[in-house]
Amino acid sequence: MNRILITSALPYINGIKHLGNLAGSMLPADIYARFNRLRGRDVLYICATDEHGTPAELAAASAGQSVREYCDEQYEVQRTACEGFDLSFDYFGRSSNAPNARLTQHFADVLEDNGLIEERVSEQVYSIDDKRFLPDRYVEGTCPHCGYEKARGDQCDDCGRVLDPVELVEPYSTISGSKNLEVRETRHLFLRQSKMQGRVREWVEAATGWPPLARSIALKWLDEGLQDRAITRDLSWGIPVLRHGQPREGFENKVFYVWFDAPIEYIGATQERAEAGKGDWEPWWRTDKGADDVTYVQFMGKDNVAFHTVSFPITMLGSEEPWKTVDKLKAFNWVTWYGGKFSTSQKRGIFMDQALELAPSDLWRWQLMANAPESADAAFTLELFQANVNKDLADVLGNFVNRITRFATAKFDGVVPGGGTPGALEEALAAQLKERLGALTGYYEAMEFRKAMAETRAIWAMGNEYLAEAAPWTAIKTDVDAAALSVRTALNLVVISAIIAQPVIPHAAAKVLDAMGVPVDNRNWPDAEDAGLLDALPTGLNFTPPDVLFRKITDDEVAEWGERFGAES
Ligand code: 2FM
Ligand code: ZN
Repeated sequence: MNRILITSALPYINGIKHLGNLAGSMLPADIYARFNRLRGRDVLYICATDEHGTPAELAAASAGQSVREYCDEQYEVQRTACEGFDLSFDYFGRSSNAPNARLTQHFADVLEDNGLIEERVSEQVYSIDDKRFLPDRYVEGTCPHCGYEKARGDQCDDCGRVLDPVELVEPYSTISGSKNLEVRETRHLFLRQSKMQGRVREWVEAATGWPPLARSIALKWLDEGLQDRAITRDLSWGIPVLRHGQPREGFENKVFYVWFDAPIEYIGATQERAEAGKGDWEPWWRTDKGADDVTYVQFMGKDNVAFHTVSFPITMLGSEEPWKTVDKLKAFNWVTWYGGKFSTSQKRGIFMDQALELAPSDLWRWQLMANAPESADAAFTLELFQANVNKDLADVLGNFVNRITRFATAKFDGVVPGGGTPGALEEALAAQLKERLGALTGYYEAMEFRKAMAETRAIWAMGNEYLAEAAPWTAIKTDVDAAALSVRTALNLVVISAIIAQPVIPHAAAKVLDAMGVPVDNRNWPDAEDAGLLDALPTGLNFTPPDVLFRKITDDEVAEWGERFGAES
């Protein structure tokens, strides 16, 4: 597994993402990418903004901007927020760029050539007052499955079902609020998913790298029977519908459906990167050009799973071309905000830009991954954020690093001291470290983030436990060699603690490793079987204690932020 392609679900362009979005796709993907880079693997982490469809049009209209202008501006806003969170994309593209249009039109052509796309007359909601069709989010109403009253035309936010606007009960236009709607006929391109049922089931059943959540969602869809679906819409913003490069009669005012082109942008963004001179795209995506060696891993929230396990694979497999399909798929539940949902449309919760104004990115990264919504939804509260930061980061890691580096500076002049012979305490420490490192590596490989964070914290805690037992501050009064040995062992543990912290808290980890004088080439993921782990720092090496690593979150801040963001316990 030496070449790893990683994609995280593309954030919609309609406004900055909240912490729940971050925790369920981009952040774990980033952490996994960093872990794999530290293991020496060739990683390509691709993401992009998802710029088509009604979310973009509606948001631009409410901002009083053209869609192009709105997308240009919001792309920069999102890119900046992602940088602020240290998301280490190898490329962050845009689904409205040319490569995605070319690829989408290509896929549509070959799918039609293969008998998987046909024109059909379909029924669409038409607004008499707005004088236009109302696709997807241009119409809202009551969900026919669960009764949620603000279900959107394309999907119910409450039960997660994918919807067709004509299914909504008591629909209304989100442009004007008008209920003066009727169903009219119009022509659209339909992807004949039902023809691919057997092929997709075979492919899902052969997939071994999918966690249970993703697998069960895919099989549920297959058990219900795949429905043919319209892949065009009556909109002006989007990818034009062509046929072999020529305008398609009757489709002049239509574009491809956002969910048809969005996943294709994973490939599109890789082509954008190639056009920017940053490396070929084909070895990552074409199995006839080397991608058969690639392990492709996708990250997403559970509402996106059906599109990635059924719809996008149909596009790729149905093309009968040698495209690389997903090998491992990691899906997440929701992060909740005081008993409800984080919500972009209702501005509930904390958004990425706001979070960075309150505290450094490492603190959020730690909290969100230590409580990753893996087996169930996970509650985010400011009180929990405070507890996680203050206990795990400040008291456990920060305190350990601070205590031992300051003591070593005061008593051993800021150099790693030689002398002393490891005894039973050090042997036990080495054995425990070996076991824990092995477990941590296994959790990362399995993409079990909560467990990886718990194991990371346990390794940090070993430092404080070792110091409490070895007590170099007492030993130094009678046995300088014994104190030197404990200090050297603990300083080695500081370095290991920082190395394993790199995927999740890259800033603090770099600060420690810089202070300890560890060259960048020596920061790779440690091998649990390496017997010399606790003796890696050369004696005589100069170091400086790092500045305070984490400041604590105060009760006053929790109260103030709670008020500002409408947190109600
Ligand atoms: O649900 C969403 O936020 C979508 N924008 C995800 C798209 S993922 C991919 F297919 F592009
Ligand atoms: Zn519903």
